[in-house]
Amino acid sequence: MATASEIAAVGVIGAGQMGSGIAQLAAAAGCAVLLLDADPTALSRAVASISASLRRLAAKGQFSQAACEDSIKRIRCVSTVQDLRDADLVIEAIVENEDVKKKLFVELDKITKPSTILASNTSSISITRLGSATKRPSQVIGMHFFNPPPIMKLIEIIRGADTSDEVFAAVKSFSERLGKTVICSQDYPGFIVNRILMPMINEAFWALYTGVGTKEDIDTGMKLGTNHPMGPLQLADFIGLDVCLSVLRVLHNGLGDNKYSPCPLLVQYVDAGRLGKKRGVGVYSYG
Ligand code: CAA
Ligand code: NAD
Repeated sequence: MATASEIAAVGVIGAGQMGSGIAQLAAAAGCAVLLLDADPTALSRAVASISASLRRLAAKGQFSQAACEDSIKRIRCVSTVQDLRDADLVIEAIVENEDVKKKLFVELDKITKPSTILASNTSSISITRLGSATKRPSQVIGMHFFNPPPIMKLIEIIRGADTSDEVFAAVKSFSERLGKTVICSQDYPGFIVNRILMPMINEAFWALYTGVGTKEDIDTGMKLGTNHPMGPLQLADFIGLDVCLSVLRVLHNGLGDNKYSPCPLLVQYVDAGRLGKKRGVGVYSYG
């Protein structure tokens, strides 16, 4: 198994909001990146947004223009899971759905080399269960980035019941190589950050649903009243309302407490396809 400094080739699956940012970070750290998505248009959008983000950071002096162009060149878009067979580390960032993720982990387990570490960027799903779907649970780990990955300073690492010390150490130092601060969470629903964040977002939906305040007043209240960079409804749109709903369902099912029960207004927005900023409409509309 590769140590953090030996991780040279990184596979990233899912080229959405998170996967594109994760691919960018790995490329900027000098890794060869193989980026895969089921939707080819997601790949072209990802390459455009990574290039724009890297150029924005280069303009701010974070690295040189040449280093920025080299990073872009280190990212190769691929079209099948088989293309990831030689990766030292694969980071999965597909839809927040346990069955779909498990199916992918089974496939990854079959095609990657025996030493490959399989990481999930899941927001809430059990790493132990993803690991159990494979024949290498000691090499399965949660590597939870925050949105937007190039800017947010944290990675939350989640050890499954069987994740080895060696894999934990490699992923921790690789996260530090990406310039991030690491926290470690036990493998319980929603881990640390979303266990605390999502009930606040859900409560903001209840406040809107029951008419306590307008969306603008709820967001301005939390921005200026508690110094958050975004109000909770604006943040929910930024994360994706589908992701927020999936995480709340995992918290509700896994912890069995009604306080995590998703607000009907959030459910209705997702049912209507109002998934937030990525779809142009959520709680707010985006031009
Ligand atoms: N790439 C490069 N640079 C970026 C960028 C990106 N993807 N996104 C933003 N930036 C830069 C901008 O260029 C700007 O730089 P300057 O200050 O030098 O001009 C800076 O970041 C701030 O950006 P903006 O001016 O566009 O907007 P902002 O001041 O509102 O900041 C934000 C944007 C950083 C996203 C900020 O609003 C914020 O921190 N919001 C909260 C984000 C948050 O809480 N994320 C976690 C969500 S929970 C999660 O991720 C876990 C989960 O499982 C759901
Ligand atoms: P997204 O909808 O922006 O992107 C998901 C991408 O995965 C899409 O491009 C989709 O085409 C692709 N995809 C779906 N199923 C696939 C499959 N089987 N094989 C290949 N590609 C597939 O979602 P996102 O916001 O980037 O979230 C991705 C993951 O990251 C989720 O597990 C989510 O919970 C987690 N996460 C999200 C955030 C956030 O703020 N959005 C933060 C941290 C973690």
